[in-house]
Amino acid sequence: MTTGAVGVSTLRAMTAQDLPSAHKLSSEQQWPHRKADWVRLLELGQGVVAECDGHVVGTTMWWTYGADHAVVGMVIVANSQQGKGLGRRLMQAAFDAIGDRSILLNATDAGLPLYRSMGFETIGTIFQHQGAAFAVPIAELIPDERIAPMKAGEIETIAALDRRAIGMDRRDVVLYLCDYAQGVVLNRSGEQAGYALFRRFGRGLSIGPVVAPDRGGARALITHWLGSNPGMFCRLDVPEESGLSAWLDGLGLPCVGRVTRMCRGTPPSADKDVQVYSLANQALG
Ligand SMILES: CC(C)(COP(=O)(O)OP(=O)(O)OC[C@H]1O[C@@H](n2cnc3c(N)ncnc32)[C@H](O)[C@@H]1OP(=O)(O)O)[C@@H](O)C(=O)NCCC(=O)NCCS
Repeated sequence: MTTGAVGVSTLRAMTAQDLPSAHKLSSEQQWPHRKADWVRLLELGQGVVAECDGHVVGTTMWWTYGADHAVVGMVIVANSQQGKGLGRRLMQAAFDAIGDRSILLNATDAGLPLYRSMGFETIGTIFQHQGAAFAVPIAELIPDERIAPMKAGEIETIAALDRRAIGMDRRDVVLYLCDYAQGVVLNRSGEQAGYALFRRFGRGLSIGPVVAPDRGGARALITHWLGSNPGMFCRLDVPEESGLSAWLDGLGLPCVGRVTRMCRGTPPSADKDVQVYSLANQALG
């Protein structure tokens, strides 16, 4: 363990041993992540912690998506240590590791001034919807369309679809998520046209990523998961351009917050024919 002078924070690589402390930091911010969620995030990516007098007082994590992109998340500084430049140092450590890649993140209002000052620009808004007392919508499928459980042999096709939708190569993340999430596929005329994963996350269950060719397809995928889980606490993080926010409000899954999607560098260029309708989560995008 690296130790510094009393009261001075030092930065070092995050390890699995740091996760209980990291979990305390996110709980202090009222973030819903369970320790298991932190474990999965570190299995998929890397992080740096700031340590002061033997205590973890700050975190940042990143996930590289191919040679051109990375996403940053879980940027937290303990309340008692904020405003001392630690957030900026943690972000710089992430930049140093990420190199020349364009970086995306979903910023809380607290993080906006820091990210703006470090070259991030706003590219969108994400609405957080959640609740347990939702009405189960009626599935509206079009002719030749059906929702079916995802099969192991479909995962590479799903990863390719995801890449087109998000404009970044996050195949490893998709494969990892598919390993423990439940998945359904939207088939149109016998072709895989979209997918939706469903898994434990935070306070309850998360529906995402949802990738579909259009809003109707996305609604059908989401309807599948809501319909099989009435009364369960479900969460979705939907981009503003998904146009799903009002629909979710109407079902009884209210919008409880929003974050700002930001990019440093060239934003990913996504395929117009297939779109992300719900994120994997705010950290992974
Ligand atoms: C966002 C956060 C990580 C910033 O960490 P920090 O250590 O307080 O930030 P720094 O001291 O490095 O400040 C960096 C910049 O943020 C801005 N900033 C920091 N505190 C601020 C405040 N109270 N009001 C306005 N701007 C502020 C300033 O622009 C500052 O720039 P400067 O260095 O030129 O003064 C921290 O506030 C935090 O953990 N918040 C709660 C969790 C969260 O929302 N994380 C962001 C997730 S996307």
